[in-house]
Amino acid sequence: MTSEWRIGIALAVCVSGLLYGGIAQGEPEAKTLRGNVARGKTLFVRNCAGCHGPGGGGDGYRLLGQDPANLTAPSTRKKSDAELLKTIHNGKPNMPAWKGNLSESQSRDVLAYVRTLGK
Ligand code: HEC
Repeated sequence: MTSEWRIGIALAVCVSGLLYGGIAQGEPEAKTLRGNVARGKTLFVRNCAGCHGPGGGGDGYRLLGQDPANLTAPSTRKKSDAELLKTIHNGKPNMPAWKGNLSESQSRDVLAYVRTLGK
């Protein structure tokens, strides 16, 4: 390998690092929220939208009894992260507990996505 080659590779690594940094900065939401919104969306569509509806409006599948919460409503939005994470972990009447299926960081990702709903 010639030294020009090595410099070329070093430059390519630097440039891709800069590009990556630029893309990451283009997602302010992912930075301010602790969870990852994009990953949370995938998890939400797969696990939660069936009941809570694709937009989280509580318009998915309804069971007898308590309807799925409207996650875009002010009543949900003003609850703390800790409170909502507890519901996601432990479930509620008519809502399954997710702690066995979603890791701690996946729960935060899904919560980060829930926080983008209704904005
Ligand atoms: C089988 C249906 C069902 C599924 C699936 C489901 N939920 Fe729920 N969820 C409910 C119901 C019903 C409630 C309301 C329970 C109550 O208020 O007693 C609820 C409540 C909540 C709340 C509390 C809202 C508040 O204002 O306190 C959050 C947060 C929530 N769900 C998030 C999720 C997330 C995230 C997922 C996917 C990982 C999910 N849910 C999957 C049925 C479901």
